[in-house]
Amino acid sequence: MNGTGTSKVVLVTGASSGLGRAIAQRLVKAGHRVYGTSRRPEAHADEGFILLRMDLLDEATVNATVAQVLQNEGRIDVVVNNAGRGIQGALEDLTPEQAMAIYDLNLVGLHRVCRAVLPGMRERRRGLIINISSIASNFGLPYRGLYSVTKAGVDRYTEALRIELATFQVRVVSMQPGEFATNVDSARIKPEKVSDAYRARYERAMELLGSSLHYSRDPNEFAEVVAKVIAKERPRPLYRVAKGVQRLSVLLKFLLPGRLFEGLLAKHYE
Ligand SMILES: NC(=O)c1ccc[n+]([C@@H]2O[C@H](COP(=O)([O-])OP(=O)(O)OC[C@H]3O[C@@H](n4cnc5c(N)ncnc54)[C@H](OP(=O)(O)O)[C@@H]3O)[C@@H](O)[C@H]2O)c1
Repeated sequence: MNGTGTSKVVLVTGASSGLGRAIAQRLVKAGHRVYGTSRRPEAHADEGFILLRMDLLDEATVNATVAQVLQNEGRIDVVVNNAGRGIQGALEDLTPEQAMAIYDLNLVGLHRVCRAVLPGMRERRRGLIINISSIASNFGLPYRGLYSVTKAGVDRYTEALRIELATFQVRVVSMQPGEFATNVDSARIKPEKVSDAYRARYERAMELLGSSLHYSRDPNEFAEVVAKVIAKERPRPLYRVAKGVQRLSVLLKFLLPGRLFEGLLAKHYE
């Protein structure tokens, strides 16, 4: 198989839980050869796909895992850059070290994976990179500002890479999930200390976030859309997979005058 047929070799980062696991399982069902990654693959039961070790913060493990898949399969057709974490806290309460940590994982980690897979994709003049961003990339969300920053970075990274690679027939796509029921809530980086100045509004914002996550969607719905994107010959630059108020708020941001939109957003967090 040379990657032009329907069965593709797919690498999904962060496939030990949440969206990544749902994506990997859905792609197995679609007949693809799927490799997932985790920092501790040995800690996870067999989920129906091969789980390899990769720590996005450690370039050597990224390169070694990509090399292993290439050795096994001779190619990687699709990469889903999914691994990532959230971060919460008033910007003033988060340390520069915490800012560097989330930047290193959500943005530089994805860059490490791209650098590892791109030589092979360019050479074969075929490939698809799906970067998992977030609906949060569209706004500077209060008390989740650094998360918004990293995901906005993912979107801009996608746009630039997409143009750089167009001549090599390698496609690059951003996908922005809304809220899906995963471990994202418990895995979020948190401030070491919450200042009294922000406490009430920060706690209210986290309460709001917690209750909306409680009603959030099944990760399998997101995986379904990923499977469809992979099946397309010419995928769009961006897919927003969000419903209701999340989807509407992106539209309002572009339609309303800046101050009016900001007022609505601030009111939501009051
Ligand atoms: N859930 C949502 O509502 C939502 C919304 C928008 C965007 N997203 C994005 O979707 C992606 C997946 O999140 P999720 O909600 O599925 O969260 P999750 O359930 O917490 O899964 C996160 C995955 O990332 C992996 N990971 C964490 N740190 C890593 C590191 N240093 N190196 C390699 N892998 C690492 C974890 O694997 P190990 O711990 O096994 O290494 C895990 O498989 C993230 O990029 C997130 O920002 C999620």
